Amino acid sequence: MIGVSLKMRRALYHASVTVHLCDWLNAADHVAPATVDFLYADPPFNTGVAKRSPPGGGKLGREGAAGYADAFGSAAGFIGWLRPRVEAALPLMKRTGLVAIHVDWRTSHHVRLMLDEVLGEDRFVNHLVWAYGLGGSSPRRFARKHDDILLYCLEPREYWFEAPLVPATSQRLKGQMKKATDVLDVPAINNMAGERTGYPTQKPLELLEMLARACCPPGGLVLDPCCGSGTTVVAAMRTGRRGVGLDVSADAVRVARGRVEGEKR
Ligand SMILES: C[S@@+](CC[C@H](N)C(=O)[O-])C[C@H]1O[C@@H](n2cnc3c(N)ncnc32)[C@H](O)[C@@H]1O
Repeated sequence: MIGVSLKMRRALYHASVTVHLCDWLNAADHVAPATVDFLYADPPFNTGVAKRSPPGGGKLGREGAAGYADAFGSAAGFIGWLRPRVEAALPLMKRTGLVAIHVDWRTSHHVRLMLDEVLGEDRFVNHLVWAYGLGGSSPRRFARKHDDILLYCLEPREYWFEAPLVPATSQRLKGQMKKATDVLDVPAINNMAGERTGYPTQKPLELLEMLARACCPPGGLVLDPCCGSGTTVVAAMRTGRRGVGLDVSADAVRVARGRVEGEKR
C-alpha cells in the first residue's frame, strides 16, 4: 500500500474486522472460499464443566456474567464435534495458509490424530506449548501449566511463516534476539490486567499477537471460529491483519464487538 499513511492503513484494517453470531460449521456464511491465511481456533476444552465469568472478574460489569457449555461426554464426542467444523473451514483456507487448534492435555492427543487424518501427517508443522505458569500446584503430579496449540499447513512447500523473535537467554547471546522455539512463555492474563474482559478462558493478547505475526502475512485474513471475547480479532487489528470472529454465544459476540469498537477509538 504505497502512499497510504500508517493512520489510514490502521483505519482500513479496523474496517475489515467483523464478528458474527454463527456456528463454526457455517463459517462459509461469512467468509469467502480460499481467502483465509490463518485459522486459529480455541474451542471448548471438553472439561465437563460449564464456563462462567468469575464475579467481578473483569469489565463485563453491569452487563452481567457470560459463559458457554463445555461438555461433550467423551473424547470421541468432542472429536465428533470438532472434526466436521475443521472440515467445513478448509475450503475457506488459502493454499499458503496455516491452521492452529488450541487445546490442552484432555484432548490434544486425539485432536492431533484427527488433524493427521483430515489434513495429512505431512501437513503437521508444530506442536506449540503455551507455558502460562499461573495458578496452583499439585502434590500428586507435575502441575499442569501449559496448553497445546497444534499447527498444520495446507501445502508443505508453500505456507507463509515468519518466526517470531524473542530475547535470547544464553550467556553467549545475552541482549540479542533469537527465533522463538515451540515453547511459548507468555503469562496468562492476571486478575488486574487492563485487557481482562471477564469472559471465561480469555487468552492473552501477547500470545495472539505473536501467532498472528508469525502465521499470517501483513494485511492477510485471520479467522477465529470460536472467538469468545474477541482476543484474536483484536490481535489482528493491532498487528495490521484483517479478522473475522465467529461464536455461537450472544454474550461472546457482544463482548468481542465491544472490544473491537474500543480498539477503533
Ligand atoms: C475457549 S473459548 C474462546 C476464548 C477466546 N479465545 C478468548 O480469548 O476470549 C471457546 C468459545 O467457543 C465458543 N463455541 C462453542 N461452540 C461453538 C461453535 N459450535 N461455533 C462457534 N463457537 C463456539 C464458545 O461460546 C466460547 O466462546
